[in-house]
Amino acid sequence: MRHPSNVAVRLADYRPADFLIDTVALDISLHRTETKVVARLALRRNPKGAPGAPLVLDGDELTLVGVKVDGRPLGAQDYTATPDQLTLTAVPEAPFTLEIETRVDPTANTQLSGLYRSGSAYCTQCEAEGFRRITYFLDRPDVLSVYTTRIDADKSEAPILLSNGNPGETGDLPGGRHYAVWRDPFPKPSYLFALVGGDLGVVRDHFKTTSGRQVTLAIHVEHGKEARAEYAMDALKRSMRWDEEKFGREYDLDVFNIVAVSDFNMGAMENKGLNIFNDKYVLASPETATDVDYAGIEAVIAHEYFHNWTGNRITCRDWFQLCLKEGLTVFRDQEFSADMRSRAVERIGDVRGLRLAQFPEDAGPLAHPVRPEVYHEINNFYTATVYEKGAEIVRMLRTLIGDDCFRRGMDIYFERFDGTAATVEDFLSCFAEASGRDLSHFALWYSQAGTPVLSTEGSYDQNAKTFALTLRQEIAPTPGQQEKKPAVIPVALALFGQNGEKLDLESADARPDELARGLFELSDSTRTVTFKNIPSQPVVSALRGFSAPVRLEPAPASADLEKLLACDDDPFNRWQAAQSLALRAIFARVDAARAGAPLPSAPGYVAALRTILSGADADPAFAAQALSLPSETDLAREAGSNVDPDELFAARFGLLEEIGRALASEAEAIYARLSEASPYSPDAASAGRRSLKTVALDLVAAGDPAKGSALAESQFAAAGNMTDRLAALALLALLGGDAREKAFAAFYAQFEGDALVIDKWFALQATIPEPATTQRVIDLMSHPDFSLSNPNRVRSLIGVFANANLTRFHALDGSGYDLLTKIILELDPKNPQVAARLLSSLRSWRTMEPRRRALIEARLRRIVAQEGLSADTKDIATRALA
Ligand code: ARG
Ligand code: ZN
Repeated sequence: MRHPSNVAVRLADYRPADFLIDTVALDISLHRTETKVVARLALRRNPKGAPGAPLVLDGDELTLVGVKVDGRPLGAQDYTATPDQLTLTAVPEAPFTLEIETRVDPTANTQLSGLYRSGSAYCTQCEAEGFRRITYFLDRPDVLSVYTTRIDADKSEAPILLSNGNPGETGDLPGGRHYAVWRDPFPKPSYLFALVGGDLGVVRDHFKTTSGRQVTLAIHVEHGKEARAEYAMDALKRSMRWDEEKFGREYDLDVFNIVAVSDFNMGAMENKGLNIFNDKYVLASPETATDVDYAGIEAVIAHEYFHNWTGNRITCRDWFQLCLKEGLTVFRDQEFSADMRSRAVERIGDVRGLRLAQFPEDAGPLAHPVRPEVYHEINNFYTATVYEKGAEIVRMLRTLIGDDCFRRGMDIYFERFDGTAATVEDFLSCFAEASGRDLSHFALWYSQAGTPVLSTEGSYDQNAKTFALTLRQEIAPTPGQQEKKPAVIPVALALFGQNGEKLDLESADARPDELARGLFELSDSTRTVTFKNIPSQPVVSALRGFSAPVRLEPAPASADLEKLLACDDDPFNRWQAAQSLALRAIFARVDAARAGAPLPSAPGYVAALRTILSGADADPAFAAQALSLPSETDLAREAGSNVDPDELFAARFGLLEEIGRALASEAEAIYARLSEASPYSPDAASAGRRSLKTVALDLVAAGDPAKGSALAESQFAAAGNMTDRLAALALLALLGGDAREKAFAAFYAQFEGDALVIDKWFALQATIPEPATTQRVIDLMSHPDFSLSNPNRVRSLIGVFANANLTRFHALDGSGYDLLTKIILELDPKNPQVAARLLSSLRSWRTMEPRRRALIEARLRRIVAQEGLSADTKDIATRALA
């Protein structure tokens, strides 16, 4: 395969390419099993490359038909070709044309990288290294070329032929075939190449850019699903407008095409002018998609569109710089969603996501810097660290230098690096220039892995009326990085008086701008700031808005948390206070259960929730977040070591029951009030009311399962939209009994044939926290609607089982681990990217209690010993065990 798993690629070894490819003319004849690809490349030596070096082109499982240089066919002595490489030893010194003909089999391509088939359509995925599965090429992001693509195909099989750029000539050919030419005027790396051929339905619209360019927008979906693409189209137009308004970025082609396919390894792909999407992030209707699905579509449509500037116009020099486009683009899509919806709720959701996926990664064997320095398989570095922590770094940068300097820095970046393949240093230099600030210490965030732990310690002096606050940071070692240096941490702070009033910040130990903004920079291991004129012992609100991706430990005292919940004007920290109180209550139960002591109740937390419930109408979406207990996964992460999922489940469930009983009448009243029928609208306010309604129903059920079950049954039967229906089904799944099985059967009967909805059906069954679930998952794998070759099916059934059903997946008899191992070994030869991704659900194995730890270790060793294991899966298994 292309990367023998023992070959490490290192950032330190980066060298410019020996050749450049100015233009690429592709001529592609689509055929189910023998697609003919002719590539004509205009090559010349790179003045920055090694003089006299041979031309070595990347390939992956390619069949070579012929090679010509300047029109002259090469003989066998002029080149060496393997499926993975084409080497020309003697090439002209002057610029020359290289013509390569290859054959590829899209039907046999089950890895979904390169040219493959999804349903009856042909499509491509070239990031990171899929283009080399189509033709031999300098398949690296710093080789930028102007592409012309001619596609021909059977006209009835593929009436629609798309590629990057603007449409050119089209026409019919003999034998029922036809062709289309596409020209992309913007130089781009090969990973942004895309092609689609198929029989698809289309939704069209138009967008006029600020400077007056008329853009034709088209979203291509399965026939009959056109109406389900309308929300995505709306999100696209809003994204285009937002990027003009917030970043001054206009779209630059005459057309923008989106294609939704059912078989896709990731979420979506930003190919120039031709985004290709997992249809999960395009298709929505009130009957088939939840509020969460709508929000996901809005975010991913925006993300891929925003890549047109941050990723495409300015791309990455090498794959180590992946965060340059991904972290920045996630930051941009999070800002977009915050502007479209509720900024506070968006922030809470983003931080929950970061803690769920990135914190465990950063704390375990797969930890790596946001800009890694070495990889064996680049596909394994499309991680929460690169994406989500990468976004947090950009956000911290903005926080530190302020909105105006940040915008100026972005303007410089776009101006200076447009049309280039840039680095993290290039990016930072723009903000250093815009702000006049030295960002070399800040840059440590890109190279140092691990989550800093921030602690605060306050000491109040009654006589002097001063409050001395000491901030401290520490970072634990991560693989390959034993020694850590202090990071630059922006700590947003406020002090509240005993009556909840916000105190003015006065101190001789801080810069005036720090005091004015309530933003303190911690760039050493410790810093003490003594505040003056503090009338009484204050309550500290630290890390407001989650101003840095760190762990704040320990949480404030419970009495302070209760105060913050009541008075903090930072909604994020109000939410955080509720979470911290919940965590404390749950772990108190865990400790008591372990000690065989009576289980403690949590009156303070319950009272706080009562207050939130009574004020819930003011901001239902926020209230729903604040009323939700941390998930079992949150608890496992917070526990950090010696994790026993059964203990965590019992403690969480016990607290939920206590809350449900205590707040029964309030919850029921809210539920009744919010259940009054109103037509479905996916907007944030309506979605917020539905999420509060769901939380209320869950509370009713926690206090009185019979009542909850009855309410859920009628909500399920009467639901006018998928959000309400699925919320009811989720509750019934948890409560069990006859009602559950009846509901699952009815749901299947109603949505049979609608794969994205059936995914929800698979996923909910995989979450049932009962012993029979493992067998249920095994049985569902033989269901006619399940398929190991479809990544969405695999993620819905297997991914959810392994990541969201902690008690069953981690069953002490090892059955959950055995199931995952078997699936990974079966899937790996077909689709290594998805297999490797599944395997990373075991990454936190060392945090488990010893028996489970031993069970997992044995499975990891079994996997790593498997003969013929892919580079992808081997890389994850090896690092997990290291
Ligand atoms: N660039 C895509 C995005 O928008 C992700 C593509 C990753 N694909 C892969 N096979 N690693 O985030
Ligand atoms: Zn992206």
